[in-house]
Amino acid sequence: MDASSSHPTAPSSLPLQDRVAIVTGSSRGIGKAIAVHLASLGAKIVINYSTNGDQAELLAQEINSSSPHSDSLRAITVQANVSDPTHVKTLFDVAERVFGAPAHVLVNSAGVLDPKYPSIANTPLEVFDLTFSVNTKGAFLCCKEAANRLKRGGGGRIILLTSSMVGGLKPGFGIYAASKAAVETMVKILAKELKGTGITANCIAPGPIATEMYFSGKTEEQIQKNIEECPLGRLGETKDIVPIVGFLATDASEWVNGQVIRVNGGYV
Ligand SMILES: NC(=O)c1ccc[n+]([C@@H]2O[C@H](COP(=O)([O-])OP(=O)(O)OC[C@H]3O[C@@H](n4cnc5c(N)ncnc54)[C@H](OP(=O)(O)O)[C@@H]3O)[C@@H](O)[C@H]2O)c1
Repeated sequence: MDASSSHPTAPSSLPLQDRVAIVTGSSRGIGKAIAVHLASLGAKIVINYSTNGDQAELLAQEINSSSPHSDSLRAITVQANVSDPTHVKTLFDVAERVFGAPAHVLVNSAGVLDPKYPSIANTPLEVFDLTFSVNTKGAFLCCKEAANRLKRGGGGRIILLTSSMVGGLKPGFGIYAASKAAVETMVKILAKELKGTGITANCIAPGPIATEMYFSGKTEEQIQKNIEECPLGRLGETKDIVPIVGFLATDASEWVNGQVIRVNGGYV
């Protein structure tokens, strides 16, 4: 046995080692799973939430307690409404102040869907306003702040959660799908405008994923219909989305830029 093999192997550096990742809407659902996954890749996480402070705090504790270095802070929580420009600015300010570096990664997972699934003819104006305010204006404000403040020179990543419903075009999803379609168009132009920064911008567009948003307002029959419509015969789960987001967040994804990646088991 040579001398080197008798020593424990030094831990290899993780792909996002100590990079700061802001994940909006990560108190629950897909955003939460993304936060956990990016932390497992070595990132320091800013957990953003709107109202569920307790759930966000529990997640931060979970990530911090699973850190191999118990003295180093790996996750913090920041309440911010993504549709408020001052809040979005604060999100980035806090991330920089606490972790002492500009963020490398912005994942925008915050989103809303009206659980009544109204037809366009029956959509109240307030539902239109709220949907576009959170899903579209929120994505715009996150893109704008990220485009100005993410790390330059390599590794900067903007990842936006949109929806396969932009392709699925089901009745009852008109306003929601339109709010996400605008984001998909915006990201394609943003990627070009970021020329020279080393920052890439992409959308992940999931199909049905078993979260509160998905189950809210759906009958058992509608859920079964979605399962039957999927070639893989099941609902998506958050674990189906996070590896793709993880890949996009790393340096390995650099050549994927300005794209919309549908992740839906073949549903659309
Ligand atoms: N689940 C699906 O089937 C599906 C399919 C396609 C696309 N998507 C998209 O994937 C993303 C995540 O969906 P999900 O299923 O995880 O939803 P979810 O379970 O309903 O979670 C929504 C998250 O967004 C946060 N949020 C809502 N409004 C916000 C605001 N104004 N500012 C900041 N945060 C806000 C919530 O925070 P609080 O906990 O504080 O309320 C929560 O963390 C959304 O953009 C959604 O449109 C979902």
